[in-house]
Amino acid sequence: MERYLNQGITLDELVGGKPIIGICQSGSDLTPCNRHHIELVKRVKDGIRAAGGVPFEFPLHPIHENVRRPTAALDRNLAYLGLVEVLHGYPLDGVVLTTGCDKTTPASLMAAATVNIPAIVLSGGPMLNGWRGAERVGSGTIIWELRKRLAAGDIDYAEFLARATDSAPSVGHCNTMGTASTMNSLAEALGMSLPGSAMIPAPYKERAMVAYQTGERIVEMVWDDLRPSDVLTREAFDNAIVTCSALGGSSNAPIHINAIARHIGVELSNDDWQRLGHEVPLLANVMPAGVYLSEEFHRAGGVPAVMSELLGAGKLHGDVLTVNGRSLADNLAGRGIQDPAVICRYAEPLVDHAGFLNLKGNLFDSALMKTSVISADFRARFLSDPDDPNAFESKVVVFDGSEDYHARIDDPALGIDERTILVMRGAGPVGHPGGAEVVNMQPPEALIRAGTESLPCLGDGRQSGTSGSPSILNAAPEAATGGGLALLEDGDRLRIDLGRREVRLLVDDAELAARRERLEQQGGYRYPAHQTPWQEIQRSLVEPLDRGMTLAPATKYRDVARL
Ligand code: FES
Ligand code: MG
Repeated sequence: MERYLNQGITLDELVGGKPIIGICQSGSDLTPCNRHHIELVKRVKDGIRAAGGVPFEFPLHPIHENVRRPTAALDRNLAYLGLVEVLHGYPLDGVVLTTGCDKTTPASLMAAATVNIPAIVLSGGPMLNGWRGAERVGSGTIIWELRKRLAAGDIDYAEFLARATDSAPSVGHCNTMGTASTMNSLAEALGMSLPGSAMIPAPYKERAMVAYQTGERIVEMVWDDLRPSDVLTREAFDNAIVTCSALGGSSNAPIHINAIARHIGVELSNDDWQRLGHEVPLLANVMPAGVYLSEEFHRAGGVPAVMSELLGAGKLHGDVLTVNGRSLADNLAGRGIQDPAVICRYAEPLVDHAGFLNLKGNLFDSALMKTSVISADFRARFLSDPDDPNAFESKVVVFDGSEDYHARIDDPALGIDERTILVMRGAGPVGHPGGAEVVNMQPPEALIRAGTESLPCLGDGRQSGTSGSPSILNAAPEAATGGGLALLEDGDRLRIDLGRREVRLLVDDAELAARRERLEQQGGYRYPAHQTPWQEIQRSLVEPLDRGMTLAPATKYRDVARL
């Protein structure tokens, strides 16, 4: 303890009974989406000191979504483990979690759930809107569009790069409703951050104000002994699921929210996401499901305006406690929609059923489909049979990981046509350590040039939350751990029945059993070797995507706060 004094901390600060507050700093040059927190924590510290606490800033393991290879998701559990050790092992009375880029938010919340000391989330906020002339350019979403333009020969690579960087005009995390905005919004929906704070754009002055208020509030939370377990209740998770649908939130949200729930001891499954979330309408007109970006969303009322509509429609539990010590209903009073073009009224939504379907069948136990992004074109091509408007059958072409896909997608011998279902396997948490965001596969260039811009995709990996593709993804169990996708062969026919929430391989059980036996004789589904110690450790302990991709031994630890 005396070593703290060498930074000029006085004995009175250290042992005078003032709350000692950790600030988990997630920003760095390696996590540029959160880099703004390096400035914001100055205001957090001001708030902590003003309220009588003593701040101690320390780093979170870096997680940068679009640079880290093999995938940033591999580091979610590593950052979680590191933060648990810090929160358990150092004499901190409370912690401010600085969040932003996709996995920094769930990693921090998972650790706070395990340790269960007073904790509050401060989002760094999204970037300002990206623009190209009068056209909005949304982070991530523009990449998926540009890749198609590049494949079709409309633009060259220099133009691709120039237009891609238009989407990142300021400090902050992705300005679309990708995984970053979704997870920060859901942290607020869970009650873990100050009301209205999740989506204030990073450069706005209100962002620094809320940083100060967050610092003040964590000190009060320590005195009140208000802990994550008081906020992260079953009802709070129900609220997060419903809010996610209305936001058109990322398909990564069920993974992360289920993980946070498991660490606090609430059992949540993808059946809950379908039961509570599927029927909820899309209210946020934000990319990729809508047309606006985070600045308009914030001005239109942000997360409180969406939740206030949902509460009015009887879809939320209003009596849950939040980190400011008040109920959700109290926090939402008077925070209605400011611009109905950006946040729709519950009675006039953009899409009626915006949540996830939880599909099952003879290939997997759970796979999600985000129904808010099924386009009219997709419906016309695949869901237009008047006798069976929710189902279609088609043949598959199968890829083993993204390298295989990139190597072979344009091979005419595959016979991919405008009805083919593209299947990606070997992309789950074990097959591709951490799980790859590769299920939204682009059709062959020749097909794009001929006018088919998308095909149905299915896989055991994930996809970026900024993608507007209605893929069937996160299939669990994955091929690498014995899941049925390992048994698929090119040319097999699948029946996808959204009405019955089912995907079936149209071969009989005897044939499936014979294929399984052959696969087992070959030693099971092959995947690439481990490249680092952590890849091997994570692969040996990680649970499937529908269980939150948590580390199996970790979820039994609860309330490990140092006494
Ligand atoms: Fe970090 Fe999108 S890449 S928030
Ligand atoms: Mg992502």
